[in-house]
Amino acid sequence: MIDEKVKQYSEELKRLGIEHKIFEHPQLLTVEEVQSYLGKTVKDACATLIMKADDHFVAVVRRGDIKLDFEKLKKLLGVSNLRLASGEEFTKVTNNPVGTAKVYNHGIKTYLEKSIFEKDYLNGGSGSLTVTIGYKVADLKKIPGSELIDVSQKEIQAVTGGKIKGRKRILSGITPSGDGTLHIGNYLGAVKQFIEFAKTHDCFLMVADLHALTTIQNKEQLQKNTETLIVNELALLGDLTNIVFFRQSDVPLHAELQTILNNVTPLGLIKRAHAYKDKLAKDTNEEEINMGLFNYPVLMAADILLYKPDLVPVGRDQKQHVEITRDIAERFNKAYKREVFPLPESYIPEEVAVILGTDGKRKMSKSLGNIISIFEDENIIRKQVMKTYTDPTRIHASDPGHIEGNMVFTYLEYFGNRTEFENLKKLYREGKIADVEAKDYLLKGLMETFQQARERYQELSSNPQKVKKILSNGAEKARDFAASTMKEIREAIGLTNKYSFFKY
Ligand code: TYM
Repeated sequence: MIDEKVKQYSEELKRLGIEHKIFEHPQLLTVEEVQSYLGKTVKDACATLIMKADDHFVAVVRRGDIKLDFEKLKKLLGVSNLRLASGEEFTKVTNNPVGTAKVYNHGIKTYLEKSIFEKDYLNGGSGSLTVTIGYKVADLKKIPGSELIDVSQKEIQAVTGGKIKGRKRILSGITPSGDGTLHIGNYLGAVKQFIEFAKTHDCFLMVADLHALTTIQNKEQLQKNTETLIVNELALLGDLTNIVFFRQSDVPLHAELQTILNNVTPLGLIKRAHAYKDKLAKDTNEEEINMGLFNYPVLMAADILLYKPDLVPVGRDQKQHVEITRDIAERFNKAYKREVFPLPESYIPEEVAVILGTDGKRKMSKSLGNIISIFEDENIIRKQVMKTYTDPTRIHASDPGHIEGNMVFTYLEYFGNRTEFENLKKLYREGKIADVEAKDYLLKGLMETFQQARERYQELSSNPQKVKKILSNGAEKARDFAASTMKEIREAIGLTNKYSFFKY
């Protein structure tokens, strides 16, 4: 049954001269689910993103497999704040349930991302979870006030199976600092993106143990942290197809490249780096800052450039380091008049760029004690969830509650069923559920999301041989790749000799 609202929308499209077809299906939430039901892929879909740009809303229509370059879009729109609308804002401005965004929404300016025009027809939202509309793409230009823009990130290919020619390469790393365990901030900010990319890209992921030396100078602790992080990451990743997973110190070329890059890196650039500046700001005497910490961005540049990645998915705190890497790469290429290093870009989805901690104030970080763990005992995770900041103005469960800034609802955005989540928000606002019920729901969502990973964690923890094998395979592949880049570097800079008595 096609509901009245969809019929009216279809009439409106007809009036505008936008050719379209209507497909009915069972209630499906994600684009992937709908497309697979209709026998198509996300490449044949378009998604309308409703975004809050400063104080107004805009709609950006992009192809299902293309990600947007938020920074570019921000510049283009001339705004300083840009983010995806929250579920609530979405429903308010579109009058439709989350996940059903129509391509044309009254009163909201529509921007059409160039990539959609590579297809004749694309399936998109209809305002209903049980109907999808196939739009004739060329006709979308008839949407009143619509504008064409070019803001796609480096392409995200949603092609599965087989080797894809010219596939993009992804690289990232995590430092075994703290106690080596991962929290949901690491997961949402970095690991989750990585898992998505690994479906269609060639990926390198390193456990950056050399970086940990800046703070950990205790043999047992470093070993324990590194092993902990390895098992945490492997458990989260699960399938390692397309992923070279390795330990940084297994590839000594990182250190060699750091030495080389030191010579094209201006001192001022590194003095401006956050890690050093922050440390200095905590009124630490310069005498107490080691060179490893100071020079850390150059090692990170080496980590990245050895693998010539297109994208580096990280949280916002690492953005500056990727920018420094680009700067160093450019200086190297210029100095040696050779494009040895392609310039990598960071990949930082705005909505998870910084995941706040359970205190609701500061970035989630082990050292601040405001984390939610992934692999701890359920009792510990329950305690972390129970102390999560909610709505301080709410005294009784029957008081209307606020969602904004309420960390339980912030996390629920990622760890809960969408429909139940919307319902829960409504009940909370109306003062019909207590904080503890929302927290219980979050705990349930976390346990469900990480159930398989937690099982893998148990399995890997009791199977060191398997872990060792994965690491030796990864190290070998990483070394091979890094060695071929290093050969190029050595040739470019003259660390090669022909012993031809100076006739070069
Ligand atoms: P590290 O180990 O501090 O953090 C690992 C990743 O998790 C992200 N992250 C967060 N994202 C959102 N919200 C949070 N609360 C949050 N906390 C952590 C970080 O941004 C990071 O992406 N220097 C790096 C490791 C590294 C690296 C590399 C990364 C070494 N070499 C080469 C990329 C490429 C670091 O210390 O991340």
